[in-house]
Amino acid sequence: MARVDPDRHDDGLEDAMTAAAQTASAMIGTAAFEVKRDDLRDTRLVGGSIDVTAETAAGRAVLAVDRFALTANNITYAAFGEQMAYWSFFPASDGYGRIPVWGFADVVASGAEGLAAGERIFGYWPMATHCVVEPARISARRFVDASPHRRDLPPVYNSYERVAADPAYAREREGLQMLLRPLFALSFLAADFLDDNGVFGGTQVLVSSASSKTSLGFGHAMQRLARPGIRVVGLTSPGNRAFVEASGAYDAVATYDAIDGFDPSVPTVYIDMAGGAALLTRIHTRFGDNLVYSCRIGGTQWEDLAGRMDLPGARPKFFFAPDQMVKRHGDWGPGGFDTRFGEAWQSVLQPASGWLAIVDERGPDAVERRYRETLEGRVPPDQGLVLSLAD
Ligand SMILES: NC(=O)c1ccc[n+]([C@@H]2O[C@H](COP(=O)([O-])OP(=O)(O)OC[C@H]3O[C@@H](n4cnc5c(N)ncnc54)[C@H](OP(=O)(O)O)[C@@H]3O)[C@@H](O)[C@H]2O)c1
Repeated sequence: MARVDPDRHDDGLEDAMTAAAQTASAMIGTAAFEVKRDDLRDTRLVGGSIDVTAETAAGRAVLAVDRFALTANNITYAAFGEQMAYWSFFPASDGYGRIPVWGFADVVASGAEGLAAGERIFGYWPMATHCVVEPARISARRFVDASPHRRDLPPVYNSYERVAADPAYAREREGLQMLLRPLFALSFLAADFLDDNGVFGGTQVLVSSASSKTSLGFGHAMQRLARPGIRVVGLTSPGNRAFVEASGAYDAVATYDAIDGFDPSVPTVYIDMAGGAALLTRIHTRFGDNLVYSCRIGGTQWEDLAGRMDLPGARPKFFFAPDQMVKRHGDWGPGGFDTRFGEAWQSVLQPASGWLAIVDERGPDAVERRYRETLEGRVPPDQGLVLSLAD
């Protein structure tokens, strides 16, 4: 991995990272892990610095990113970086980008009234040692980053939670929270969307990347809905089949090569977490007009992402989770969404502490190695990576 330090021609990156710990000084050294936007295998580590005095004088807050989760979801942010503006959250230069990750950070210094140094915050960060935000709409529970470059981006990513005011927060469950909660929000909403639409008349739901945390959460959420007559089938790769079967998240499990043996007369919905063009084509071709809904969500198969395609059966549609969330906030009234989501989340949290082994590692070399494993799909599904760029 290349190491570049545009702000510090005399000092080494190690000096920059040591300085990152010296939060009392006005300038702090930073490091960020970046990937080439058009070649996700090309990575670099970039050193820099933050003028804390200037940032706080302008009303901004400087946070030290302590721990973040890394899963296929973050690779998908990169793969859809241009198309869905994921590169815009944490801008970089020279054709490189900073992949967003979910995790915890501590406020190092703050010029925002109502937000003090020392607070721990959950939210959306770059893969970096630090992040500067412009806190606005500060309430007891959360604030919003109102930085100009983020104003037009989806609000769900600009909201930051103050963990001290979160009754569900527990330090020992941070790993599970950052690994699973953002993903489970999608799982919950996707299952609810199907339920809300009568599963589009289907009696079978196929879910790809069945070993992914998001698909497992979807399977679990479908079980909670307990719709009679609906069979949810997890599709996975041969190496992950035993794990998926043991998870109990689906009514049945099949490997991708079994699709051509499925009964094509069964009205079927496809929940597409893989995003691969070849897989999408096989499923549409197999079921034809009996593919009653094709719901595009993820892109774990990021090297074969399907574009607009003319396929038999229902036209694939992207699922936009915030739309369903807004709808349910209306349908369920004040507090209704939070109560239902909170109950569902608690029901996955406890079992997850049994099957998900958290791998907690620090430092640029660990981040680089684990990023490559995630990119190439080499992380076992029962592992959850929790990383930090700081040593
Ligand atoms: N649209 C949204 O708002 C939203 C929100 C959350 C998640 N998602 C999507 O859900 C998907 C799953 O994310 P996750 O974080 O839950 O994943 P994860 O737990 O890291 O999933 C890992 C699994 O994904 C498949 N996979 C991973 N890398 C692969 C590769 N390079 N090539 C082929 N398959 C690969 C494998 O599943 P199999 O062996 O079972 O095939 C692997 O076991 C992502 O694409 C993500 O973008 C979307």
